Formats: sequence, C-alpha cells, structure tokens
Amino acid sequence: MSGGHSGSGPDGQGARSGARRDLNFRRPSIARVYDYVLGGRDHFEIDRKAAHSFLNVVPEAGQLAKDNRHFMRRSVRFMVAEAGIRQIIDIGSGLPTAGNVHQVAHEIDPSVRVVYVDNDPMVLAHARAMLDDDTTTVITSDLRTPEAIFDDPETHKLIDTNQPFGVLIAGILHHLSDEDDPAGIAAEVKDRLSPGSYLAICNFLGEEPRARELERGFLDGLGSGRFRTWDENRAYFDGLEMVPPGLVHANKWRPDEDTAKDHSVETLYVGGVGRKP
Ligand SMILES: C[S@@+](CC[C@H](N)C(=O)[O-])C[C@H]1O[C@@H](n2cnc3c(N)ncnc32)[C@H](O)[C@@H]1O
Repeated sequence: MSGGHSGSGPDGQGARSGARRDLNFRRPSIARVYDYVLGGRDHFEIDRKAAHSFLNVVPEAGQLAKDNRHFMRRSVRFMVAEAGIRQIIDIGSGLPTAGNVHQVAHEIDPSVRVVYVDNDPMVLAHARAMLDDDTTTVITSDLRTPEAIFDDPETHKLIDTNQPFGVLIAGILHHLSDEDDPAGIAAEVKDRLSPGSYLAICNFLGEEPRARELERGFLDGLGSGRFRTWDENRAYFDGLEMVPPGLVHANKWRPDEDTAKDHSVETLYVGGVGRKP
C-alpha cells in the first residue's frame, strides 16, 4: 500500500509527499525516521541522518521497529479474532506501510472499523490517499490531548465509545518526554475506555547500559526516545486486567511464525495488552 502522492522533498529525493506548507521538512520526523528504518520510501536526508544517530550506536536497533510492527499486528489479531473487538483507534499510526491495522483486522472481519490518529500531517496526506472504504478514517490529533482524539466527530462516526473498542499506542509513549507525563496520559486514555475495551502498548525498555547509549542517540538525533524501566512501563496498564502473558519483551507476547526469535536487541522492547474491567 502506498500513499500515491508524488513529488520530491527538500533534498530532491526520497519521500513521496505533496509539497504542503503544513508539512515539516526542516526537522526529522518520527514517522519518516520510522519509515526509513522499516525500509520504506517516505523519508528525507534529515530523517536518515537522525536515524543514523542511533543506528551508529547499536546497528541492530532497526530490528526494534520491526518488532514493534509485528507486536502491533499480533495485538490486533488478538483483539479481533479472540476478544471480539470490532472497532479500533490506532494512536500514532505512522505512515502507511504493509500490513496496516485495518488490513490485519479485515483479514478476520471486513466490517471492523478503524480510526487512525497521528500528529504528523504527512500521515494524514498519505493515509487519505490509500483509504478507500467507509470502515476506516484518519485524523490529525495528538496523544498528549486524548480528549481531542476521543471527542473528534470523525472518531465518533466510526467508534461507538459506549461499546468495547480497542486502542493501540504502539511505539509512541517513549517519544513523550517525562514532562509530558506519559503515565498521566495513559490514565486519561484508560478513563475513556468502555468496560471490555482493550489497550495495547509497546515501548523501548531501559534496563541495561546500552539502552542509555541508544537513548542518547535518539535524543541527539531525533529529540525524543526515552528508554523507561519495567515499572514505568507497567504503570501504563494500572487498573487494567493484563491479557496473558502480561507485559513481556514484545517478541515474547504471543509470538507467531513472523516473530523474530532471540535476536540481540529484543530485551530493549516491551509490549502488553490490558482489558478494562
Ligand atoms: C514509531 S512510529 C509507530 C507507528 C505505528 N504505531 C506502528 O506501530 O507501526 C510513531 C508514530 O507516532 C506518531 N507520534 C509521535 N508522537 C505523537 C503524539 N504525541 N501524538 C500522536 N502521534 C504521535 C509519529 O508521528 C509516528 O507516526
């Protein structure tokens, strides 16, 4: 799946984006750096440079993006196939790539409704071009103001928040600073979940020395990327019933045939799914 936009970025190559004035080309973008690390085409020189500020520290760190993506897909399959969820809000959805949430969900049930949310307007531009049915939409909004996401009329068109729904926050809370109060934001999201809803979260884990070095690389190059402890990550799920096996290294969460096995950086990433009682 691709955005279908054409045009060149400031470096005359790379990202396929419309030359929209509200798009940020002067600073690296999390979405474009992630796309680069995943092997996509929607990035500029400034993003590649940012990526190498952490890839130079731990060259295998690109695997974390793949692990994140696979965890996200497994959590969607769980929600739809096992937990009966038929509506999902994907916060920090990223630039469309292969195996997006609605595609994974629609393999199980084509009627599943999905709202994609990202604070990067380039995501909106690309996602709009590829969304072609009325089960899926995309909005530009920020995780740091959850009420704006849940109260958006576009969200309400597809999500009945009185019924159980799924929320994905895959690979974003670690891009919030401590001052942003990520645990407080997770609490606000949990407050908006109806009983029987599910929340999937995955993040960097900072329990070993190389995590501190990687964090430095992320902060220097991208300006965000905190590697938090088990306890800090566990706190995001306070008040929820954890779906077995709980919060674990992301590749140990219900692995399937696509899950990478025992690679050198898997202890730097955690994931879990909780259910609102
Ligand atoms: C690492 S990517 C993860 C993409 C996707 N969730 C996945 O699992 O493949 C993080 C995404 O979160 C978005 N993002 C970062 N901070 C955000 C915020 N405060 N609110 C909404 N989106 C945010 C970025 O623009 C980027 O697209």
